Amino acid sequence: MKNREKVLKNMKGFCNACPSCDGRFCAGNVPGMGGVGSGSSFISNVSELKKYKLNMKVMSCEKEPDTSLELFGFKLSFPLLAAPIGGTSFNMSKTVSEEAYANTIIKACASRGIIGCTGDGPQEFVYLAGYKAIQEAGGAGIPFIKPWDDKLLMERLEGAKIIGSEYIGMDIDSIGLINVKVNGGNIPIRNSSQYKALLKRLPFKVILKGIMDPREAVECVEMGAAGIIVSNHGGRILDHSRSTVSALPGIVRAVGGRVPVLVDGGIRSGFDMVKVMALGADAVLIGRPFTTAAMGDLENGAGEYIDKLKNQFIQAMLLTGCSNLEQLKENGSNIIFKS
Ligand SMILES: Cc1cc2nc3c(=O)[nH]c(=O)nc-3n(C[C@H](O)[C@H](O)[C@H](O)COP(=O)(O)O)c2cc1C
Repeated sequence: MKNREKVLKNMKGFCNACPSCDGRFCAGNVPGMGGVGSGSSFISNVSELKKYKLNMKVMSCEKEPDTSLELFGFKLSFPLLAAPIGGTSFNMSKTVSEEAYANTIIKACASRGIIGCTGDGPQEFVYLAGYKAIQEAGGAGIPFIKPWDDKLLMERLEGAKIIGSEYIGMDIDSIGLINVKVNGGNIPIRNSSQYKALLKRLPFKVILKGIMDPREAVECVEMGAAGIIVSNHGGRILDHSRSTVSALPGIVRAVGGRVPVLVDGGIRSGFDMVKVMALGADAVLIGRPFTTAAMGDLENGAGEYIDKLKNQFIQAMLLTGCSNLEQLKENGSNIIFKS
């Protein structure tokens, strides 16, 4: 890891800046950077993905891989989003502010042609920092807001209207989030009919995050979701949850291309990105490694991490015989093997 000393200083007490960000050192640290409880959900996101290997081909790629795509109204240079990460002061750093962190991520992503996302929490300053960063970047980014009770949700979404967001994300898995409970937040339990009615009232296209079950994914499509993110919140919701890579193929099959399916959890490199896209994901979110990259050298650190991911992604596409993203998805079963 680049600038490890600086990462350790900025993230003192929160992160060990491990060479492989795999959830072992920080197990149980929520609040903090870890996975909840035993940490096994975070750990298995990483370890299950490692079991997939790429099938190398050297005469199958027709030309330099084209990694570009359109997603949620953005033109992307490759299929990556920086995952929403909120609560800087109580999860990751006493020296870098919420605003500085949100700015860093949004600017670095905008400069590399990918989408930066921002987070939310019971404290207002979390989502406000995200809105401000997205507004200052001319709308380049997607804010994620938690499904608060109707009154608070509508209040918070006023700001998303002001900054002109067409898409918002909603991490509906937050009903199980410790950080919300310990900070006095209230997220009501809603069924799919209640969510459907809620989504109808919102003047945004809504991407639903935290889906791990194929039937619930279908319900999300029927509720009017603009996209689905297969996610267990980086293992921060339910201890002993299955890994996201194991949930992904069933959800992709169930959704059948009706809306984009994205995935996060344990994805660390451009090689990992190719693996999950070969399993059917339309794009990928990465969380914690963006945090450590940013804590090492703010926008430069995050920017360099994106460059590295893109180079790895192109290399992996070239050497698995994929000239474009359609081929990567169509030939998935020829591209990866589970060892
Ligand atoms: C410290 C921390 C804060 C997070 N805050 C949010 C948040 O505000 N909203 C959200 O939807 N997800 C949040 N997440 C979850 C991430 O968006 C993402 O799902 C997860 O980090 C992906 O796993 P990875 O870190 O292994 O890549 C947070 C995760 C961490 C580690």
